[in-house]
Parts: sequence; structure tokens; C-alpha cells
Amino acid sequence: MKNYSIAIDGPAGSGKSTVAKQIAKKLNLLYIDTGAMYRAVGLYCLKNNIDIDKEEKIAFALKNMNMSIELLEGIQNIYLNGENVTEKIRTQEVGKAASDVAVILAVRQKLVQIQRDLAKGHNVIMDGRDIGTNVLPDASVKIYLNANIEERTKRRCNELKTLGKQYDKEQIKKEIIQRDENDKNRKYNPLKKAEDAFEIDSSCMNIEQVIEAILNVVKQKINDLGV
Ligand code: DC
Repeated sequence: MKNYSIAIDGPAGSGKSTVAKQIAKKLNLLYIDTGAMYRAVGLYCLKNNIDIDKEEKIAFALKNMNMSIELLEGIQNIYLNGENVTEKIRTQEVGKAASDVAVILAVRQKLVQIQRDLAKGHNVIMDGRDIGTNVLPDASVKIYLNANIEERTKRRCNELKTLGKQYDKEQIKKEIIQRDENDKNRKYNPLKKAEDAFEIDSSCMNIEQVIEAILNVVKQKINDLGV
């Protein structure tokens, strides 16, 4: 059987990682969360007081930054110079820093190389912003997962609530809109639907419905491709 790959792209809060993780389990695929890698670079810059607006400083810092990925019980763990930062990267502040460093070509080139190397020789499901358009342009299945801003705000607030964190709904909404702007309008590999991607609007769907919709596309495509 040939290897196959599933690419899931979409804006912040569209539910990509939640569904990708569950599909990875169901289909026994390697799950690669590319946003975590941009977040790790963002965290590194915040921790080392590297000015995110200064492209050459970040490009230089990349040389001293050793990023590695390890799967622990099926969960992607990410290490920065030996430190496990899997939990530390999950904040709004790091999310914003990730979106800011993601405009820099040197950052994208380094991370895309890591992502392609990880995918080699495996059946993978990878989520991000440029997977179907750039990282895996030949992916067997491409999904563009979307949801309206109200719903994405609600989901992010619920996540923070579950974690017992304080939040301001209007502020969260503003930050998501800002992140969309940043991710869709950057020069290199902006967030956009690949021409051959199947678009799912999950605004009125629950997780199980989204998973079912994606599995239907996967079944169809994999049959057609004969993998
Ligand atoms: O999916 P996420 O929220 O963890 O991603 C954080 C940021 O990383 C996102 O706002 C833009 C950037 N990113 C990217 O540019 N390309 C990817 N493939 C994944 C994430």
C-alpha cells in the first residue's frame, strides 16, 4: 500500500488540531501539528528578548535554536534546545508571537523542511496554514476547515474556561481577527484554501460531525487514488 497524507488548513480556532488528533487515532496516522513549531519559535523569541520585528535577528537566532519533535504516547512533544515546551507554547501571547514570526521567510524555510522530513515514509495527517498549498502540495486529501468568527471566539473562550483561565471575550475576538489578518495577508505562503481542497464550514457542526465529514472525503479520495 502506498503512503498517503491528509492536509488540514484553516484559521485559528477552526478546530483543526482537535479533529486531526482524533482522525490520526482512528486511521493510525502520524499527526503533525505545524502550528506548534511556529509557536516554539515565537516562545524562543519572547524568552530571549529577540525583537520580533527584526527579521535579521530572528534569522540569526534560528542558528542557535535546536528544535526537535518526539511522539510520546501518540502526542507530539516539542523541544527547544532540549527543553520540553509542549505546554508552554499554548498561550495567547505565544500564539500571537507565532503568527508574527511566521511572516519571516527564513523561519518558514527551516520549519517547512522539518515538516517535510517528518512526513517522509509515513501516513500522516498534518495541520496548519500552508500544508495543502506549500508543505505537502501532493497530499492525497486536502481539507480547508473554516468556522465563523463568533463560533471560533466561543470555542477559544471555552478552552480558556476549561483551563481555569480568565479571559475577555471581546479581546479574544479581536486577537483572532488580528491573527486572521496576519496569516492571510503575509507575503510567503499565506493562509488560503488550496484549489483542490475540500472546504468544510464547521460553524454549525460538532466535532463528531466534522470528523465524519472528513472521513467521508478521505474514503472517497483514497479509493479514487487506489492507495
Ligand atoms: O495553529 P496555531 O494557532 O498553533 O498556529 C500558530 C501560528 O503559526 C499561526 O497564527 C500562523 C503560524 N502558522 C503558519 O504560519 N503556518 C503553519 N503551517 C502553521 C502555523
